[in-house]
Amino acid sequence: MLIAPSLLSCDFSKMGSEITRMDKAGADWMHLDVMDGHFVPNLTFGAPIIKWIRPYTKKPFDVHLMISEPARYIDDFADAGADIITFHIESDSDPDETIERIKGRGLQAGLVLKPHTPAEAVFPYLDKVDLVLVMTVEPGFGGQSFMADMMPKVQALRAEIDRRGLKVLIEADGGIGDATISAVTEAGVDVSVAGTAVFKADNPADAIKRLKGEA
Ligand code: DX5
Ligand code: ZN
Repeated sequence: MLIAPSLLSCDFSKMGSEITRMDKAGADWMHLDVMDGHFVPNLTFGAPIIKWIRPYTKKPFDVHLMISEPARYIDDFADAGADIITFHIESDSDPDETIERIKGRGLQAGLVLKPHTPAEAVFPYLDKVDLVLVMTVEPGFGGQSFMADMMPKVQALRAEIDRRGLKVLIEADGGIGDATISAVTEAGVDVSVAGTAVFKADNPADAIKRLKGEA
């Protein structure tokens, strides 16, 4: 299991040192939640902030776009230093065009599913993406309760990816911590996003080890 701490739960007055703190604690990727106040009812940050924090780690920047028109902003996030860009299948952008823009910049591309969207919605794109992100909360805010009923969706995706012999990773996002990581692992998730569970932990290194099943 790879762990991607979500910076949404960090102290935003010191994002740089928060990234360094997570790097030292053993984070695999840095998960960056971009919200536009339109696709989701919250606002966070965009490409300029990502560019400023990019030098604080060499770990991959996993940029989760919760915005209505992701295709318009792919170049901005690529220029800012994103390594992985995921966008919602429910957004207004054409999935094929958006994937091509991301891959055209040499980055990894992923599609994201909101809780109400079935696994089958991304099946036509599975041979074009590097990962699929399954939301285990409604996107918009950190600190919400994990939706265990999303695990059959993860299992359906895992079965389809394996059946077609693809190398697509499955990522899960929302409410993941000590109480929920076993369900996520058993369902076949490769990468877990964790905000509250690592940033609010007394010892983030221990928290990450536990989530990775290495404690
Ligand atoms: C929610 C975000 C998540 C969130 C996870 O819209 O996509 O990445 O920050 O935070 P926790 O782990 O606290 O649920
Ligand atoms: Zn996220």
